[in-house]
Amino acid sequence: MAKSRVQFICQSCGSVHQRWAGKCDACGEWNTLVEEGTSGGIGSGPANTRNARKGRAVVLTTLSGDIEDAPRIISGIGELDRATGGGFVRGSALLVGGDPGIGKSTLLTQAAAALASKGHRIVYVSGEEAVAQIRLRAQRLGVASSPVELAAETNVEDILATIADGKRPDLVILDSIQTLWTDLADSAPGTVTQVRAAAQAMIRYAKSTGAAIVLVGHVTKEGQIAGPRVVEHMVDAVLYFEGEGGHHYRILRTVKNRFGPTDEIGVFEMSDKGLREVANPSELFLGERHAKSPGAAVFAGMEGTRPVLVEIQALVAPSSLGTPRRAVVGWDGARLSMILAVLEAHCGVRFGSHDVYLNVAGGYRISEPAADLAVAAALVSSLTGLALPADCVYFGEISLSGAVRPVAHAQQRLKEAEKLGFGSAVLPSGSGELAGGIGAGSFQPTELADLVARIAG
Ligand code: TYD
Ligand code: MG
Repeated sequence: MAKSRVQFICQSCGSVHQRWAGKCDACGEWNTLVEEGTSGGIGSGPANTRNARKGRAVVLTTLSGDIEDAPRIISGIGELDRATGGGFVRGSALLVGGDPGIGKSTLLTQAAAALASKGHRIVYVSGEEAVAQIRLRAQRLGVASSPVELAAETNVEDILATIADGKRPDLVILDSIQTLWTDLADSAPGTVTQVRAAAQAMIRYAKSTGAAIVLVGHVTKEGQIAGPRVVEHMVDAVLYFEGEGGHHYRILRTVKNRFGPTDEIGVFEMSDKGLREVANPSELFLGERHAKSPGAAVFAGMEGTRPVLVEIQALVAPSSLGTPRRAVVGWDGARLSMILAVLEAHCGVRFGSHDVYLNVAGGYRISEPAADLAVAAALVSSLTGLALPADCVYFGEISLSGAVRPVAHAQQRLKEAEKLGFGSAVLPSGSGELAGGIGAGSFQPTELADLVARIAG
């Protein structure tokens, strides 16, 4: 047994400190250092007592031919399979993170049920709920009759012994990683050391048996319990389940995937019978549109390979404050400041004595710079009190010089807009031909000032 030593580990970033401090030097968070013993812990094992075992290196080219695409287990829940890149990969580990109560257990219960009823052996291990509680949820979701195996365990060694019985499982779900602990580490469950050690043990299990594992991780803003971020680099794929308070829809976002694309999203709606797939997110985000009100512009965006239409709302109102307010929900505040500056400097539009509020409808979050043009249009429309045409979509990036720059996937954005009944578009010039129902009334400015002149008319 290695000599027991005390270390202080940051529960937010996982960095190790020899002395306690109020602030973590590595990530700058306060009050995140926790004392953890390391005896027998991961990486501190009795390395000098183990005899090295000789491995074997394989030449890459000799592998061709007998390796197919990553073998996958397809859940049949389209939005989930889309986010995972085509299903759970055998022998891989997937992390599903998200705020408590967002619906992670619900999603995975539904996935487990769907897979089990197809004949796969699925084990759902819950460290948070008793078996009876999981059953109640399954009943509510209408999947209580599917042959998912349930276990309420928190010790990794017990879990491995439990699932070793019978046929090798196809998928093991561990809900949640923060409740797991292993005999190998002597810190409390939920600390970085335990979370890492438990995750490592389960990942080793996955690699050696070929079972897929799903780790559920709660993200806490305070960093009180180890965030799943410390296991992000250990797993093969990371999905985040997000949603805005008060809204019913949830987005499953891929942030890392060793076996597929990382910019995909799956969209769900939380109902009283669990999560419902939303195959056409645009309809959801445009659902409550009031056509013809100033300050609203529809942005034709992209999420991975899929176009998503969403309404951008701006309110520009005279301010009584010395420094007017700028508030943004669902977009980048710095990017809004940039658009405001470009409008002032190159288009002669003054916001200096106005409060500016920007909101992306439905609580959706946009990260694409392609939304610039829609934001600018909404701002000018609100300031002038002139409504934009209701059947028009906007996309395009704006440079600091006031030029409108082309963005990728113009044709796909236009096609989606046409499908949803839009008849015209404002887009960068050089985006290619405007085909089909979109064309008449469309406008392709090269300068933002041209669009401003057109709106102010
Ligand atoms: P849950 O899956 O337990 O969240 P997590 O595992 O991410 O902590 O979901 C909890 C929330 O979902 C809870 O507030 C109730 C709601 N919910 C529904 O609205 N409908 C349902 O059918 C279920 C099962 C849960
Ligand atoms: Mg849960």
